[in-house]
Amino acid sequence: MKEFDEYISIVNKAIENLKLPANPAGLYDPIHYTLDCGGKRLRPVMALAACEAMGKDPMTAIHQAVAIEMFHNFTHDDVMDNADVRRGRPTVHRKWDEETAILSGDAMLTTSTMLLAIKAGENLASALDLFNGTAMNIYEGQQLDMDFEKRLDVSIEEYMEMIRLKTSVLLGCACGMGALMAQTPFETQLQFFNYGVNLGLAFQLQDDYLDTYGDPKTFGKAIGGDILNDKKTWLLIMALKEDQTGEVRNLIGSDVPAEEKINKVRAVYDRLGLPERIHELIRAYIDTAISCLDQLPIPPDARAFFIDLALKSATRNK
Ligand code: IPE
Ligand code: IPE
Ligand code: MG
Ligand code: MG
Ligand code: MG
Repeated sequence: MKEFDEYISIVNKAIENLKLPANPAGLYDPIHYTLDCGGKRLRPVMALAACEAMGKDPMTAIHQAVAIEMFHNFTHDDVMDNADVRRGRPTVHRKWDEETAILSGDAMLTTSTMLLAIKAGENLASALDLFNGTAMNIYEGQQLDMDFEKRLDVSIEEYMEMIRLKTSVLLGCACGMGALMAQTPFETQLQFFNYGVNLGLAFQLQDDYLDTYGDPKTFGKAIGGDILNDKKTWLLIMALKEDQTGEVRNLIGSDVPAEEKINKVRAVYDRLGLPERIHELIRAYIDTAISCLDQLPIPPDARAFFIDLALKSATRNK
């Protein structure tokens, strides 16, 4: 197995080598901008590492790994969330406009399916099945995420299902795709998928935590966007349930200035001890992810790699 950073270098080199066209610039500039903006490259690294863990050259899965990163980068979520900043830079719809963000996102989606097919060989049908099934789940999750903005009675169970769909399945897909390209039995692919899904639940819970408590410089996104959008995060659902004063409920949909709304909601979260409690939950999903590794026929260094990856995801600050 390689170090995490070595896999990142492989992914970044493959992205550079894509040689996407330059024209029309209105379409391709935002794609280059998005891909060049960095990001943790977590999903493609997982795909390469899973492939190598199963005893194959990680380059066997490189096109599929980049396909997944390309899909993850597509820009529609920032339009839907009215987000101004990503990876420390203005989002595509702020730097250009919404039309540009939508069309470049569409082009990235199509490019990702084209990449997925490259050198997939006899794995093509299964790879497409996994990828397209995952994409549909993500759209379903994104719809629920928006529906929940308008509801006050969202349960923790509904929230967990929503984040499983919008975020976790893509991490599961990345791990499963690496195992699939290594031509491991379906049962093994599924165990890898389950590892990724549980890690993904922890990952989105941590993303929600950082959206309120992160440092915008390291996190690369504006803080408080979830609160301003009335996103039903674990934090907000718990506050709605436990805050006896009704303060949080009254702030939802109110015209209180942005800064004040964020500070007031965060103060309630603090009072209820939610930052500590969300980390207990994150740790539980990380433990479940790690226990999925027990069923996997992988060597000790691969096991250590995936344990480390899970633990780092739980404590990340970017
Ligand atoms: C952001 O994903 C979207 C979520 C699922 C929370 P990442 O946190 O992996 O974003 P980048 O790719 O590192 O920027
Ligand atoms: C992540 O949800 C899910 C997808 C992008 C599909 P968020 O909306 O929380 O992601 P960020 O915080 O904008 O990266
Ligand atoms: Mg969103
Ligand atoms: Mg968003
Ligand atoms: Mg977020």
